[in-house]
Amino acid sequence: MEYNTLDNMNIGGKTVFLRVDFNMPLDKKTLKILDSTRMSQVLPTINELTHKKAKTVIIAHQGRKDSWDFTNMEQHAHTLEQLVGKPVQFVDDIYGAKAQQAIKAMRPGDILFLDNVRKLDYETNKKTAKEHAETPFIKNLFPLGDIFVNDAFAAAHRAQCSLIGFTAVLPSCVGRLMEKELSTLSKVVKDPEKPCVFLFGGAKFSDIIITIERILQNNTADRILLTGLPANAFLKAKGYHLGERNEQALLMEDGSPEQFDEIKKLLKDYDDVIDLPTDFAIEEQQKRKEITLNDLPTNKALFDIGRETIDRYNEILHQAKTIFLSGPCGVFENPLFIEGTKEIFTYVANSDAFSIVGGGHTVAAVTQLGLDKKISHISTGGGALEKFMMGDKLPVIEALKQAKVNPILNH
Ligand code: 3PG
Ligand code: MG
Repeated sequence: MEYNTLDNMNIGGKTVFLRVDFNMPLDKKTLKILDSTRMSQVLPTINELTHKKAKTVIIAHQGRKDSWDFTNMEQHAHTLEQLVGKPVQFVDDIYGAKAQQAIKAMRPGDILFLDNVRKLDYETNKKTAKEHAETPFIKNLFPLGDIFVNDAFAAAHRAQCSLIGFTAVLPSCVGRLMEKELSTLSKVVKDPEKPCVFLFGGAKFSDIIITIERILQNNTADRILLTGLPANAFLKAKGYHLGERNEQALLMEDGSPEQFDEIKKLLKDYDDVIDLPTDFAIEEQQKRKEITLNDLPTNKALFDIGRETIDRYNEILHQAKTIFLSGPCGVFENPLFIEGTKEIFTYVANSDAFSIVGGGHTVAAVTQLGLDKKISHISTGGGALEKFMMGDKLPVIEALKQAKVNPILNH
């Protein structure tokens, strides 16, 4: 292993700073946590730490400074308390006197939850571990701790203060969730069982263009199936007129002329392995109606893929040994347009292929359809997962590797 795991650490009685990704989906009106999957996935680490009588100090973020879902972590502490079934103390401070007092007062097996680290102006700065270690946050906290454990796979693509700063000054390791994500996903990136098919959907497409290019170049993917907004963007780049409403939706999701040029370039090399829908579902008189490519343009929104596309995609998926699902095939929240997502995801879940699902909406769709137990690996990552599949280095992992080679740089 290039980095330490909990197996290499002597944890009993130690004070452990545990960085997790508890960036939760919140209800826009009530700001209540909608789904606690991300928390449940860190339970193996938290339970192991408390069983081994560590003092666990939880560090996490919620939202971004200017976003509507930027909150304190009190609710997160309550939800976690219910999940672990033992007290979790929240302190409305990050590294000041209150936080320090609370850490010093901890007893073996205790869990303490610090406030949202993104309240610190410098948290989201992109710097090296050593530079971050000079901030008041790390400087005030690290002398109170013995070990840093990073279990925030979903934030592993960020070189931010609380994610990497401790690795310069404390013995550091990955948590059990990060360990599982990395070992499973590394195998798939390096040596996927072939053929390997990636299905992209959902409501964003700008980042997907480069992802598709790289996974095809790296020979990770053999075939790409597109649905949702990515499919619409590729169809437009191929010269189809989707109708004003659908093209407007693309423009709102950074559909700059350059993006379509990028897609055209990609299609020049890979047209034969990138599949696009040939029929769609729209809403007419509150009913689902299917139309084909020949019916375009339409003034109705394309809300789902149609029967012919579903069957054609499932036939391709039938050959696959590895399948990666990123994004639902349509607006699955609406029962009229769940069909594409339901049929394709169910087909994948029931197939013998090794299946991977990532990203908040995709995981939500899989869970809603009751397929979560039948998917081989459900990743907590969205952006981090995509970067990893592209073969990019993740700053959090690089910092942990460095920490293993050179355990404590400054002290
Ligand atoms: C996420 O939910 O994607 C991670 O927590 C990272 O959050 P960010 O995209 O705001 O950096
Ligand atoms: Mg994100």
